[in-house]
Amino acid sequence: MYLCGQSVVRLLLLLLTTNVMATSAVNSGVKMRLTSKGITYASSIAEAAIKAELQSLHIPDQSGQDGHLSWSLTNIQTQSVNSPSSQITLDPQQEGLTWVLSNFGISLKADWHAKYKKAWIKVSDHGSVSVGLHDVSLTLTAGFGQKDERPSIYSKSCSASIGDVSIDFHGGTAVIWNLFKGILERKFRDLLQTRICEIVVKLVNEDANQALSKMKVYIQIDNCFLLDYGLVAAPVITSTYLEVLNKGEFYWAADKQECPFSPDAIPPWSEDDSMLYVWLTEYAAKTFAYVAHNHGYLRYNLTNKNLPGDQAGYLNTTCSKMCIGKVIPQIAKEYPDSWVELQIKSTAVPTIQITTENITSSAWADIDLVAHTPDGSTHYLLTLNVSLSLTVQASIADEKLVVVIVGDRKSVV
Ligand SMILES: *[C@@H]1O[C@H](CO)[C@@H](O)[C@H](O)[C@H]1NC(C)=O
Ligand SMILES: *[C@@H]1O[C@H](CO)[C@@H](O)[C@H](O)[C@H]1NC(C)=O
Ligand SMILES: *[C@@H]1O[C@H](CO)[C@@H](O)[C@H](O)[C@H]1NC(C)=O
Ligand SMILES: *[C@@H]1O[C@H](CO)[C@@H](O)[C@H](O)[C@H]1NC(C)=O
Repeated sequence: MYLCGQSVVRLLLLLLTTNVMATSAVNSGVKMRLTSKGITYASSIAEAAIKAELQSLHIPDQSGQDGHLSWSLTNIQTQSVNSPSSQITLDPQQEGLTWVLSNFGISLKADWHAKYKKAWIKVSDHGSVSVGLHDVSLTLTAGFGQKDERPSIYSKSCSASIGDVSIDFHGGTAVIWNLFKGILERKFRDLLQTRICEIVVKLVNEDANQALSKMKVYIQIDNCFLLDYGLVAAPVITSTYLEVLNKGEFYWAADKQECPFSPDAIPPWSEDDSMLYVWLTEYAAKTFAYVAHNHGYLRYNLTNKNLPGDQAGYLNTTCSKMCIGKVIPQIAKEYPDSWVELQIKSTAVPTIQITTENITSSAWADIDLVAHTPDGSTHYLLTLNVSLSLTVQASIADEKLVVVIVGDRKSVV
């Protein structure tokens, strides 16, 4: 499902205060709420997809046995399809989603073979047949659960009805078979009405769950990190929304361990004007900062090569215009014609604080200055103990996330 770029979609970034009292048993780093408005929109996309899918419908050969009669339908060809209307809605009573497919019709042409065998009576015949199904409808309610961090789905109820079935035989003995038209049509209708639900329930309970059990719940980032967005609880369905709680925790890919802190509770939210609400708590950012610092990821060696073109010689000790040798003359004096490397490494886990007004992040680092002299040797110069604090304001304007830096503070020891 793709909800971006629609003018009706407003993605709200809800900024949370940090000192929220825990109220629910399960807290999560990310929460997503698809409202009934969003489900109506998703339903319209699903309807279009079903219509497109039906254009290239292929029905496999069918066969069956009914008492002494065995039959088969082969070479089934779709003559025409009346696309169904499809609607998905929240069903709070059954705690599920209800899918109603209605007004579906199809006409098919196929070759048939039938054999009747009872004691010494054996009849076998074949020919071609046209079958029309009209006014077919299906109502399916599916509920959701949770299995190994993934959602699971199961059918809660299913009913199908077929308004009208028409069967017409063609070819040699068609005249005889068409005498039984009425009986066959009723029988076929009863058979199909139960078969439709059997097929659909199997699709949901087996095929859909199999697909869900393979759903990815991690994204690997930069080969170092895993972002776990698996479910922490079964999806919840109410009369106005479907809600999913995701873990939203970063791990070090090579050493997957739980962070020593848990997400705060997300405050209640009653608004449901938008299609989709996404709560991103500071938990994800905090777990990222935690593993990044503890696994030495927040390290960087800065040399002339990393500087933009017009500042390429800034870390030289000797220069005519502007370089570090001019800023700290002692370095130029002691190590002329050399270049300086800045070895930066974090000294504490950066902090991130999200409030209703702004996001503040603080980081602490040591910067070792090392001189590389023309003879290829290195000389330690000094260490700068740096702290950096950055405050930004985030807001949504014209459906874009806008981040404004409202204050920063640097200090060097
Ligand atoms: C930076 O340089 C030091 C000394 O050469 C080295 O030990 C360290 O691994 C380097 N760090 C990075 C991130 O390349
Ligand atoms: C910086 O020094 C290197 C040699 O160490 C030299 O090749 C380069 O031209 C210098 N760059 C500037 C802008 O002075
Ligand atoms: C950020 O928000 C907090 C509380 O909402 C406030 O105390 C603080 O002054 C704000 N910081 C900046 C730089 O606006
Ligand atoms: C750097 O400064 C922090 C406080 O800003 C201090 O706790 C830490 O010990 C200092 N580190 C060094 C190496 O001076």
